[in-house]
Amino acid sequence: MIVWEEKYSVGLSIIDEEHKELIRIMNAAIEAKQHNDNIDEISKLLKQLTEYALKHFSTEESYMAKFKYPEFQYHQEEHHNFSNKAITYCNRVVEGDYHIANEILEYLKQWLVNHIQKTDKKYVECFRENGLE
Ligand SMILES: [Fe+2]
Repeated sequence: MIVWEEKYSVGLSIIDEEHKELIRIMNAAIEAKQHNDNIDEISKLLKQLTEYALKHFSTEESYMAKFKYPEFQYHQEEHHNFSNKAITYCNRVVEGDYHIANEILEYLKQWLVNHIQKTDKKYVECFRENGLE
């Protein structure tokens, strides 16, 4: 099980709360993996993953737009890559290729390190200067 740690925090409560949902989805992937890629569990977590992407990326992107964040475009590209990945996973399940819990988990682990702990942390100063806490 993966637990929320301070190192994942960007120091902005609104963002951290949404990021915690990703940790919950990662734990669902661990469980699905333990249950031999149970298709119902995989389907459920992919639904949660796409909902997470829609909601959370729109939160971040609306702040980036509002605060005229200079690296908005680059950041948005990473979000698009994630959303496309989620759609690809959904399509694979539809086609019967659902033994993907571990693949999803590994992708989300990478995302946690490379996006949340790196790319997201870059906007914190800008968001703070604009009054976000
Ligand atoms: Fe982001």
